[in-house]
Amino acid sequence: MAAKKDPAAEAAAAMNRRAKGKKPMKDFKKYLVYGLGVFATIAAVWLAATDGGGKKKSRDTYRAKATASVNDRYFVSDVTSYSAGNFTAAASPFFNGWSYADVSYGLDGVSIKGEGMIGFAGALQRCQDEAEGLESGAVPPAYDLRQQKPGCEAGEVYDQQNCSSSYAIAAATALSSRFCFSDPETYAETRLSPQQVISCDKKSQGCGGGGIDSVWSYLKRRGLFPESCVPFAGAKEAKCESSCDAAKKLYSLDHCLLSGEKRIKREIFNRGPVVAPVLLKDDFMVYKSGVYTPTDNANQQYGANGEPLLTAVTIMGWGRSEGTPYWLVKNSWGKGWGEDGYARMTIGTGVLREESIIVGYAATPEALEELARKKEAEEKRKEELKKERAERDARIREREAQRAAEATESASEAEEDLDFEDDEEVDTDSHEGDDP
Ligand SMILES: *[C@@H]1O[C@H](CO)[C@@H](O)[C@H](O)[C@H]1NC(C)=O
Ligand SMILES: *[C@@H]1O[C@H](CO)[C@@H](O)[C@H](O)[C@H]1NC(C)=O
Repeated sequence: MAAKKDPAAEAAAAMNRRAKGKKPMKDFKKYLVYGLGVFATIAAVWLAATDGGGKKKSRDTYRAKATASVNDRYFVSDVTSYSAGNFTAAASPFFNGWSYADVSYGLDGVSIKGEGMIGFAGALQRCQDEAEGLESGAVPPAYDLRQQKPGCEAGEVYDQQNCSSSYAIAAATALSSRFCFSDPETYAETRLSPQQVISCDKKSQGCGGGGIDSVWSYLKRRGLFPESCVPFAGAKEAKCESSCDAAKKLYSLDHCLLSGEKRIKREIFNRGPVVAPVLLKDDFMVYKSGVYTPTDNANQQYGANGEPLLTAVTIMGWGRSEGTPYWLVKNSWGKGWGEDGYARMTIGTGVLREESIIVGYAATPEALEELARKKEAEEKRKEELKKERAERDARIREREAQRAAEATESASEAEEDLDFEDDEEVDTDSHEGDDP
């Protein structure tokens, strides 16, 4: 433990100081005994004063208590030291006054609704790989949407307050950003309203959480007004209404499930941010700066029904810091949390769930045109198929008719033969029998 190094260093320093100040001791043994004595004394005093030995235990104890505060200063300093330079921790204004019980309530209910039935008809579908060699396409080693597409980050980081709405904020942010990405002039500074989802989407649970994936169905069906039309109100009573022109709404086209680092990067690079579920750990809540890797002691947080808590973030880019590859994510815990509300999270730790990324396509004019083109091509293909089938059927019918005609012909030839034979042998009989 880092805490134990300090007294040792102090003792060594003290030893040095004393050794320098006094005449060098001739007897090495005496020197050693003296040094050890100083070390033991300082260590004992230090341990007694700080209860250093019991620190880990006390940390686990206060985290087990629902009443303990997220911003507990001992916990914060522990996290910084446990992360060993990867990231620093700090109390954030967002969690001011929050206990762990508040976390279970205030961040509850965010899930991936379709995860259990991926690929089934009507359920969450996997994103289709692009035709032009997805695996081979190169992406830059670092990417930050704020720099690549200035004004496309969908405005300032939200403060979701005591309202579990990360699912709505992340979706609205990604959709806004994607419109801007597609046409940075027309859609500059686009910021669509997550409050509309919180207040109006009956299939989500408002401030009680919602589906990171299923919320996109609302964005497709109803579209979103700009933030200015339906401002964020969080848990404050907000009616589902807007005086804005419906023409101001922007829609999603569709959504799907994506996985894999390379695919995620490619998708962001080509079309803009994606939404990621993040498993909620106690040390992440006090993340301040650096690249977040969960500490060994990190504790997963749970909701009221015992489910592991998830929070939704928007991936805005990636990069590498001192050899550690990371995702750049935009959170919704206010600007005072993390790096101005953003975080850098190590890729591949399992905290940010790279296997369950949600891509929500924007219904941009180009995307709609392309969809129309695809539909038209599909229709045309169907028509052609129909025509081909009709032609084939006609050919078959023709051939059948021909065969039938040939059959009749050969039959009549045969008949003629028979007739001929008949003529020879049973001519008179048949004539007798057939005549009415
Ligand atoms: C620091 O981050 C690296 C990269 O994710 C990881 O391998 C290492 O275990 C981390 N150190 C600590 C103390 O968490
Ligand atoms: C959040 O709201 C709930 C329900 O009103 C309340 O019990 C809880 O104390 C609130 N949490 C905070 C941090 O204000």
